[in-house]
Amino acid sequence: MSFTIAIDGPAASGKGTISRAVARAFGFEHLDTGLLYRAVGRRLLDGVEPLEAAQTLTVDALDESVLRTPEVAEAASKVAAIPEVRAALLDFQRAFAQRAGGAVLDGRDIGTVICPEAHVKLFVIASAKVRAERRHKELRAAGHDVSLEEVLEDVRARDARDMGRADAPLRPAEDAETLDTTAMDIAEAVARAVALVEARLPAE
Ligand code: DC
Repeated sequence: MSFTIAIDGPAASGKGTISRAVARAFGFEHLDTGLLYRAVGRRLLDGVEPLEAAQTLTVDALDESVLRTPEVAEAASKVAAIPEVRAALLDFQRAFAQRAGGAVLDGRDIGTVICPEAHVKLFVIASAKVRAERRHKELRAAGHDVSLEEVLEDVRARDARDMGRADAPLRPAEDAETLDTTAMDIAEAVARAVALVEARLPAE
């Protein structure tokens, strides 16, 4: 049986942490689809043409340690606006969603485009200020010397690009549950998400 959970939302909304925790709680596989766009963005920075980078992407290119930088995030958000790049990454994501035993995919368009038939759809949001504070903490902890103002500006610019693009813009699916994590800590957000999934799991 396949059981697919689609978790979408803007940058630093908490969707990555929630997705990993939900996958762990139910023993499902997890795919952070942002890493696909980041890997293509990384290769763009190396001078590779984005469509070629998307078509030749391999799983070992999804090494988080080199992909979690502000420069790569910026490049990812640009290549993510190219329809041919999105199309080239579609099959991999759909195949992952069908994995036996259950799959959690997180991104921007999972509930709307990649897996419109997902069994559970969550749309995770938080205010831009709170998201910038979270991302700032993460970046500082990883040794990046950036100011909160710069991070807030980046968050706003990425929101505008992710929501404003013509192809698969960031928006909640009609049947998605919105989870606003602005005033929640990680434990509370995860508990809410797990409860929403539990309520939809087929009875044994
Ligand atoms: O979630 P993230 O910050 O790793 O995403 C990096 C970029 O990729 C982000 O600007 C939006 C884009 N993206 C997308 O367009 N569709 C997805 N399913 C996932 C990410």
